Amino acid sequence: MKAVLPAAGWGTRFLPISKAVPKEMLPLGAKPVIHYVAQEAAAAGCTDILIIINQSKESIRRYFEPDPVFEAMLEKAGKHAELAEFRTPATLARFQFLYQPEMRGLGDAVLLARDFVGNEPFAVLLADTVIAGESPLARMVELSTRTHRSCVAMEECPSERVSRYGIAGGVLDSDGIYQLDSMEEKPAPDAAPRIRRADGTALRHHAFAARYVFTPEIFPALAQCPAGRNGEIQLTDAMRMTMGKQGFFGVPFSGRRLDIGNPKGLLEAADLMETLG
Ligand code: G1P
Repeated sequence: MKAVLPAAGWGTRFLPISKAVPKEMLPLGAKPVIHYVAQEAAAAGCTDILIIINQSKESIRRYFEPDPVFEAMLEKAGKHAELAEFRTPATLARFQFLYQPEMRGLGDAVLLARDFVGNEPFAVLLADTVIAGESPLARMVELSTRTHRSCVAMEECPSERVSRYGIAGGVLDSDGIYQLDSMEEKPAPDAAPRIRRADGTALRHHAFAARYVFTPEIFPALAQCPAGRNGEIQLTDAMRMTMGKQGFFGVPFSGRRLDIGNPKGLLEAADLMETLG
């Protein structure tokens, strides 16, 4: 399977350091955040990874691309352990890079991946989020491949935070999967949909948790989506369109989503580093 890692966002919550260092390149130990995201994709069977960047994020490309000149120097100096460390990022998968020319939102970033993906299901991992503990991705890949439907990782979300996330409603089935029937991007808490048990009782709110597996039908839906707030194309709008046509699964998981787009999230992730990826 192929994976797409959108990493072209501004990083405004990490100013001023994000002026010079992309938030995805901030360190968790000796590796940047995005290393753990690529490692998670590779562990779920993704062999080809496309990273969507912009001109100020060249360091992401440098990190994952081989560097034959430096590698030859290390080789010549007999520094074999260092050489192995140096090569690790490039060996996780086959990497490609694409520039998002304008900040037109997450939906636009995913749409740029159309030629790379072709006519197959593919994974999307938001590169400013790491998962501590169990990743939902392998289960999502299996589910999507078997059913030919898209799915999204979901986690419980306290009511006071629903206006920060994509929130979905639907029915909890006997396999513990949510059959989604409504989706809203950053809704007001009192208008936000909910997951329900088969008998109709509502559970707490559930939010999209930065990991997706899409069927290729997401691309025509994205291409049709009008730009919304700030001229941005919302991924959630295109997801809603394909949900109406094909159905859409929500997949819960026992791990913890850590948003490293802000300093507090990065510190939390550093504490849980041993359990990432
Ligand atoms: C994006 C998605 C949203 C999702 C969130 C966390 O929002 O649009 O649906 O819940 O990531 O995965 P952003 O954080 O980019 O505003």
